[in-house]
Amino acid sequence: MNEWELEAEIASYYERGGERERLSRNARGRLEFVRMQDLLRRLLPGEGLDVLDVGGATGVHASWLAADGHKVTLVDPVPSQVEVAAQIPGVDAVVGDARDLPCGDAAFDAVLLMGPLYHLTDRGQRVRAVAEARRCARPGGLVAAVTINRTAGWGDYLLFKAGGDDKGISAEASLRVVREGVLQFFDQDLFTTAYLAHPSEVASEFADAGLPGADQYAVQGFPGFIPEMERLIDDESVRAHFLEGLRLIEREPSLIGASNHLLTVAVVPE
Ligand SMILES: C[S@@+](CC[C@H](N)C(=O)[O-])C[C@H]1O[C@@H](n2cnc3c(N)ncnc32)[C@H](O)[C@@H]1O
Repeated sequence: MNEWELEAEIASYYERGGERERLSRNARGRLEFVRMQDLLRRLLPGEGLDVLDVGGATGVHASWLAADGHKVTLVDPVPSQVEVAAQIPGVDAVVGDARDLPCGDAAFDAVLLMGPLYHLTDRGQRVRAVAEARRCARPGGLVAAVTINRTAGWGDYLLFKAGGDDKGISAEASLRVVREGVLQFFDQDLFTTAYLAHPSEVASEFADAGLPGADQYAVQGFPGFIPEMERLIDDESVRAHFLEGLRLIEREPSLIGASNHLLTVAVVPE
């Protein structure tokens, strides 16, 4: 096993192919997808950019970024996912790890980490991944990373419990994730080993990677925990209102931790 090899348990979770439909399968996935699109389209620094999508899986985001006119390079450590992504027009896909990116210095206008930080339970390794993203982004370019918030595992547990099936997760185990951040209790059909972070931890890891003063955005916000999400995200007549409301609260410091995912962005110093 080389220094940056993905743990077998995490690799085998993604080798099963679940990422292909994760963001379209249900309303929850569709909310994450439309919000990531909405956020990135507002935050990317221009049109026709060179974008590096690290942890891009089968290319669910690379696909629309390329269709928007960006030149996308996708890096992911799971070869079967990279093979799928490589078929997307306008996307170059290569096997690699966020901690040791196969890219030159300052080669990209934007580097996206939408997944790698979920699975690095060691702070030093998360800082290393952000520092690698910074190295590959040009001065004035953007580094954007998504993390799973510390509250997300407990929120899921409560939704399962309310739905009458706790999936074999004990109440104590669900609280341990809130206390310690490491999620390992889920059965492997639900998710794999993950680190659930407080927003302030992510900002401090960005600073330690040479990106001080990062901005943070709730992706789904607290409305993402509403069980009947279908009625809000799939109903054309209410979706625009729903997304407009999310834009109003996305940077509210008292709310950004109450969201399944958090987006942290920083501009590389000139
Ligand atoms: C939950 S998926 C997210 C996929 C996609 N980026 C999205 O936002 O929907 C997490 C991805 O991160 C990748 N990943 C996990 N550890 C990584 C690492 N150390 N370096 C790069 N990618 C990693 C996995 O292979 C997987 O494709």
